Amino acid sequence: MLQIAVIPGDGIGPEVMAQAIPFLEWAQARGRSLAWTVFPCGAERFLATGCALSEEEFVRLRDDHDALLFGAVGDPRIPDGRHAEEILLRLRRDLRLHVNHRPCFPLLDRLVPLKGVAANEIRIDVLRENTEGPYCLQGETQPGQAMDFSIHTEAAVEILLREAFRLAASRGCRLHLAHKANVLKHGHGLWMRIFAGLKLQFPSVEALPIHADALLCALVQDPRPFGVIAADNFIGDLVSDLLAAFQGGLGLAASVSFSPQANHRCAALFEPVHGSAPDLVGLDLANPSGMILSAALLFRRAGWEDEAKAIESAVLAVLESGLGTRDLGGTLACGQMGQAILNHLPRYIAGI
Ligand code: NAD
Ligand code: IPM
Ligand code: MN
Repeated sequence: MLQIAVIPGDGIGPEVMAQAIPFLEWAQARGRSLAWTVFPCGAERFLATGCALSEEEFVRLRDDHDALLFGAVGDPRIPDGRHAEEILLRLRRDLRLHVNHRPCFPLLDRLVPLKGVAANEIRIDVLRENTEGPYCLQGETQPGQAMDFSIHTEAAVEILLREAFRLAASRGCRLHLAHKANVLKHGHGLWMRIFAGLKLQFPSVEALPIHADALLCALVQDPRPFGVIAADNFIGDLVSDLLAAFQGGLGLAASVSFSPQANHRCAALFEPVHGSAPDLVGLDLANPSGMILSAALLFRRAGWEDEAKAIESAVLAVLESGLGTRDLGGTLACGQMGQAILNHLPRYIAGI
């Protein structure tokens, strides 16, 4: 039995999560063995109790579940994002989810904002280190100056880069390391050394370091030569939102964070790339596709490829029919979009 912990979170998180749950029910109705438990961690509870995620909850998440399905965190009433650190950054760090995989696979030509580039010409996998860099959250503010420290350990960088080489080898595509070693001599110097070492172990992979600033320019000019992009936590965060734009916006982008060498039960977290979108709260305009496609990534990782493919095809079918939420140029509300995707699941499937 696959045990899934569901954390809807803040803002549009609960709205988009409500649209993903029927896909869990659908998989269950097809005979897949899964169950889920909702954890109400988020801003509301933090404001009421001062605690966003209790120790007892963390232990239950880690030891009694196989995967986390996550909406979004972030609330304007907590401007320093302290509760988001307690929940999301804690889970990424303490579950050792070093690898954040953010695939960019545009579905529809019309939604690709680049001149003359077709959807099926772009297939980029971003692998972002998910626990370190400035996300160590160490630093200080003094009179007249402020500092944020950035940590890069050999262990975490090697885990991330090895996954990136493996993926590029299995796809038979190029691997780029996005870096700023020209400035960040210590941290990114370490990335460059480990990259060069692994390159010797994966001679079939064309592995190229590229300055992150130049990478952004090259991606917008022509994303077609890129295959896998590896990056540290900070650069990977920026690159993955740019690539979400190539797919048609943040409403469509999905991700998984995982631990290749976990010695605990819960080793994968599935979440859309977008945040809690406070500007959309209460308007019923959020696009649930990124959340639903994250559930598809969960099914794929569980080995349920038919279900994963069925969901991806259903999202494509809805987009091809010209329907969509406002971010896609359509008029559907969040729940209508979720329902439209459900309606396009194969008819023979029981329970729908
Ligand atoms: P955001 O991703 O929430 O929103 C950026 C823009 O994209 C907004 O205009 C928003 O309306 C739009 N957008 C986002 N998701 C959408 C969807 N599903 N459908 C349609 N439009 C969508 O990023 P932000 O505004 O920079 O951050 C808002 C809050 O979310 C902050 O507190 C931030 O820290 C948090 N955040 C959380 C996560 C996460 O939980 N993983 C990720 C990013 C940002
Ligand atoms: C993301 C978000 C988070 C990040 C924030 C909410 C801490 O932007 O998941 O991409 O920076 O990692
Ligand atoms: Mn981000």
